[in-house]
Formats: sequence, C-alpha cells, structure tokens
Amino acid sequence: MSIRCNWKIYIHSLLSNFNVSVCSLLEVLECTIISFDPIFILLLSAFWVMLPAYLPNPVAALCGGGLPVDLGRNFSDGRRVFGEGKTFRGLAAGILAGILIGLVQIWAAGQYEWSFLPQQTILSISLLSVGALLGDLVKSFFKRRFGKERGAKWPVADMYDLVLGAFVLLLVFDPGWLFATVTLPLMVVILILTPILHRAMNILGYLVKVKEVPW
Ligand code: CTP
Ligand code: MG
Repeated sequence: MSIRCNWKIYIHSLLSNFNVSVCSLLEVLECTIISFDPIFILLLSAFWVMLPAYLPNPVAALCGGGLPVDLGRNFSDGRRVFGEGKTFRGLAAGILAGILIGLVQIWAAGQYEWSFLPQQTILSISLLSVGALLGDLVKSFFKRRFGKERGAKWPVADMYDLVLGAFVLLLVFDPGWLFATVTLPLMVVILILTPILHRAMNILGYLVKVKEVPW
C-alpha cells in the first residue's frame, strides 16, 4: 500500500515538474517572440532607410560603362583619378534608380499607412542615392592613390563607402531628418546589415556575370 502511495506521489511530482518545465518553456518562448518583434522592426527599418543608398551600386554595375568620370585622365601621381570602373552612365543610372525606389517607398508608406517604418522624404532619398555613389567615387579616388587597381579588394572601404557618402550628405543638407530618423540602435543595425548585404549582392552580381569579382 505504502509503495503504491509513494509511486502516486512520485508520478504526481513528476507531472507537476513537467508542467512547471512546460510553463517555463512557454514563458521563454513568449519572451523570445515578444523581443523578436522590435528586432525585426529595427532590421526592416534599417533596410527601409538605406534602400535608396543600397540600390545605386548594383544598378551602376548593371548599366555602367562608356565614358569614365575622370575622362581617362591621370592624377599627379601618374595613376588614374578614379579609374575605368567609375562611369557617367553608371553614376546616372544608379542615382536615378535610388531616387525611383525612394519615390516608390514614399508612395507605398502613404498608401498603406506604414507608420511603423521611418518616413522618407524627397530630399532624404535624393541625398541617400547621390551620397552612396559619391562615397563610392571618393573611395575609388583614394583606392587609386593607394596604388590599388580597379576591382582590387579593399574590404572595409568597399563596404562602407556608400554609408559614409550618404550620411555625410545627410549631415550637411538634412541633419534634421538624419537625427530624427536614424537613432543609435538603427545606426548599429545599418552598420551590421550593410556589409552582409554588400557581400551578398556582389556574390550574386558575380554569379550572374554583372561583376568581374565577387567583392
Ligand atoms: N560602375 C560604373 N560607374 C560607377 C560605379 C560603378 O560604371 N559610378 C560600374 C563599373 O562597370 C564597375 C562596376 O560598376 O566596374 C562595379 O562597381 P565597383 O565595384 O564600385 O567598381 P570597381 O570596378 O571595383 O572599381 P574600384 O576599384 O574603383 O572600386
Ligand atoms: Mg569594386
């Protein structure tokens, strides 16, 4: 009798322990899901803010060619000013694409009332788009000064030139939008997201033979 009773107590305590474990697990899961939400919104916001700056580079690679921006001229060190990889057509097509996608964003945010996303303006999308390719151009200028050939690997500069270019232009011409929109956590996410997307896009560009190198 007492052995049966002990078994009952044992099974009861086992079940209640199991219940407690399941409850704890559900609580952890709930917490994870709840805390996942803001992280997802932050990731989406970073992508949303940077899209007019992300698009110009791949579009320039896709449509570029023809007359180079430096008109084939050399700098005083005897090397090309920007190099053969920076062309007027790439610059124009890239900037246009960045502004066009930005206009679509402004329209979509208004149309579907996506108030949880950062609000773009005509000025912000223009500065992001122009800044991204100006940053790329300035980077190529210094790349040539360091004696690096067109297409050579220059990891950090190649990945962050567009962010630096876009943010410098925003800082000069629209600091109000910049400080109201790009909070510190958003900035951190942009700095993490940019090299990942940059690398992914370049590998894709290489695979579809738009780019000569996968970086
Ligand atoms: N491109 C262009 N015009 C630009 C930017 C890019 O035509 N303003 C095109 C060029 O065909 C270039 C390609 O996009 O080769 C890839 O761009 P990017 O990697 O920035 O140029 P690289 O050729 O690597 O030159 P660099 O070493 O100066 O970065
Ligand atoms: Mg390159």
